Amino acid sequence: MSPPFEMRHVTREFGGLKAVSDFSITLERGELTGLIGPNGAGKTTVFNMITGMLRPTAGDITWNGENITRLPSHMITARGIARTFQNIKLFSDMSVLENVMVSCHYSIHSSFLAAMLGLPKHGREEKRIRKHSLKHLEEAGLAPLAYEKAQNLPYGLQRKLEIARALATEPGMLLLDEPAAGMNPMEKMELAAFIRRIREKSGITIFLIEHDMKFVMNICERIKVINYGQSIAEGAPDKIRSDPEVISAYLGGASHAQG
Ligand SMILES: Nc1ncnc2c1ncn2[C@@H]1O[C@H](COP(=O)(O)OP(=O)(O)OP(=O)(O)O)[C@@H](O)[C@H]1O
Ligand SMILES: [Mg+2]
Repeated sequence: MSPPFEMRHVTREFGGLKAVSDFSITLERGELTGLIGPNGAGKTTVFNMITGMLRPTAGDITWNGENITRLPSHMITARGIARTFQNIKLFSDMSVLENVMVSCHYSIHSSFLAAMLGLPKHGREEKRIRKHSLKHLEEAGLAPLAYEKAQNLPYGLQRKLEIARALATEPGMLLLDEPAAGMNPMEKMELAAFIRRIREKSGITIFLIEHDMKFVMNICERIKVINYGQSIAEGAPDKIRSDPEVISAYLGGASHAQG
């Protein structure tokens, strides 16, 4: 049987630059895997290709036996792959609750336009979505802030709201792009516990980009390292920590690899 998620020899070029080059990975169901590498290594580009925001120049991406390489973003969301963004993308003027409701509406109708034209204001469907969204806010510890404007939330909670919004689409796989960025140590600890809880409760596959080594090593069971678009190592945190090529990639490039 093929693994639930697989990228095979995926490349993405921008002009002459290979942002991601011959990148392959498989993720088993329920695995929590980290993707690390210095700045500009190609991590976000990997996520953008998985979610249909960028087309690979070469290679294939399969999810639950289906080739999703050339599917548009909304169809990939509909198939159960959700993500958060390195630069938070919330509707800042809308309430915390509405931000989650929009994503449910979006996943039900598979139409961004439908979401943009407004939330359903009446009826059973609206009630159902509201209840479902509140449940996800509760799980994220954000229910008391449901009626706050998203922009009024501290940065760390906005990141958590993005995760709650992604989870409200009931994904089979969750991609987190630097979820701990900008968080203080306390918020990071809470986030780590939240991510573990998500995995234990729902058994979804989690693929996580993060620069904070302590966070990644602590939470992930497997880590993939990318440098200049190419995979340079893969394995358990202990193996990665002592890998000479990984150490040299970090010493040679990134300034904020330690944490
Ligand atoms: N849309 C784009 N057009 C042109 N070049 C791009 C585009 N997206 C990414 N790149 C380039 O591809 C390379 C990889 O970028 P990417 O954002 O994937 O890196 P990253 O590993 O996520 O870095 P960071 O840790 O800083 O977020 C960089 O050189 C970047 O400038
Ligand atoms: Mg990035």
